[in-house]
Amino acid sequence: AGSYQNILADKAGEKKNVGLITLNRPKALNALCDALILELADAVQSMDKDETLGAIVITGSEKAFAAGADIKEMLNQTYSANIRSGLLERWSDIGKCKKPIIAAVNGYALGGGCELAMMCDIIYAGDKAKFGQPEIIIGTIPGAGGTQRIARSCGKSKAMEMCLSGDQITAQDAEKMGLVSKVFPADQLVAEAVKLGERISRHSPLIVQLCKESVNVAFETTLQEGLRFERKTFYATFATEDRKEGMAAFTEKRKPNFKNN
Ligand code: CAA
Repeated sequence: AGSYQNILADKAGEKKNVGLITLNRPKALNALCDALILELADAVQSMDKDETLGAIVITGSEKAFAAGADIKEMLNQTYSANIRSGLLERWSDIGKCKKPIIAAVNGYALGGGCELAMMCDIIYAGDKAKFGQPEIIIGTIPGAGGTQRIARSCGKSKAMEMCLSGDQITAQDAEKMGLVSKVFPADQLVAEAVKLGERISRHSPLIVQLCKESVNVAFETTLQEGLRFERKTFYATFATEDRKEGMAAFTEKRKPNFKNN
C-alpha cells in the first residue's frame, strides 16, 4: 500500500520483516485528523495480515510523534454529531492488531498522540520526547484512552497529575514511571525500535500472538482470571508444531525453524 496521503507505510529490517509506519503530516505536527486515522487503521490491518511481517513500528518525525487529535477538525463539532459519527471510534481499530506494535516516539506525543502511543504494545522514546495530556487546557478531557491507560500502567497519582495539569513530561520521567520501556538518542530511536521488531520476528508468529494476547488480559480482568487464562494458553502452545520445534531446537543445540503452525 503506497497510496496514503498522511502516512508512509514501508518494510524495514535486514529481512524486511518489520512493518514501519511513519505519520507524515508535518505541517500540523502529525495532528491525528480523521483521514490520518483511517489510513493508519488500514495500514495496521494490512500489515497484520502480511505473513512476511512479525512486528510493526509506528513513528512520527523528530519534532512530533503526534500533537494530538486535530483541534481544527473538532472546533465546530457538536455533541449530537459526535454520537452520530462515533468520534474517535476508529482509533480502537489499532488495538485490534494481533501482532506486536512498537511506538517509536520522538518529539511531542500530546493528547491523542500520547494515547496512540499507549495503544501500542511497547513504547520506545527518543531522549527529547515529550508526553502529555493537554486536553484540559483546551476545555476537554482525553478521549482515546488517556485517563484509563495512564491509570492502569502508572497508577492514580501520575494519571491525575498528567490529565489534570496538562503538563508535559520528559522521556526520562516517562521511563521512570513505566510509561516508556527504553529511551535512546533521538537519531537512533527508529533503528532501535526496528531492531526490537526484528528480535520479536525471530520467534514463532503464532506464539507471539498468544503471548501478546495473554499480557493484554492483565489489563482487562482480575489476577485469578488472568492467571487462569495464561495457564490455559501456556497449555495450548503444546498443541502447536512451533512449541515442539522450539524445545527440540534447544535440546539439539540448533536454531529453531518456526513454521507458524
Ligand atoms: N490539531 C491541529 N493542528 C495542530 C495541532 C493539533 N492538535 N497541534 C499543532 N497543530 C498545528 C498548529 O495549529 C500549527 O498550524 P499553523 O501553522 O497552520 O498555525 C502547526 O501545527 C505547528 O504548530 P505550532 O505553531 O503550535 O508549533 P509549536 O512548536 O509552537 O508548538 C505544540 C508545538 C506545543 C505541540 C503546540 O502545537 C500544541 O500545543 N499543540 C496542541 C496540543 C494539544 O492540545 N493536543 C491535544 C489535542 S485534543 C486531543 O488529542 C483529544 C483526544 O484525547 C483524542
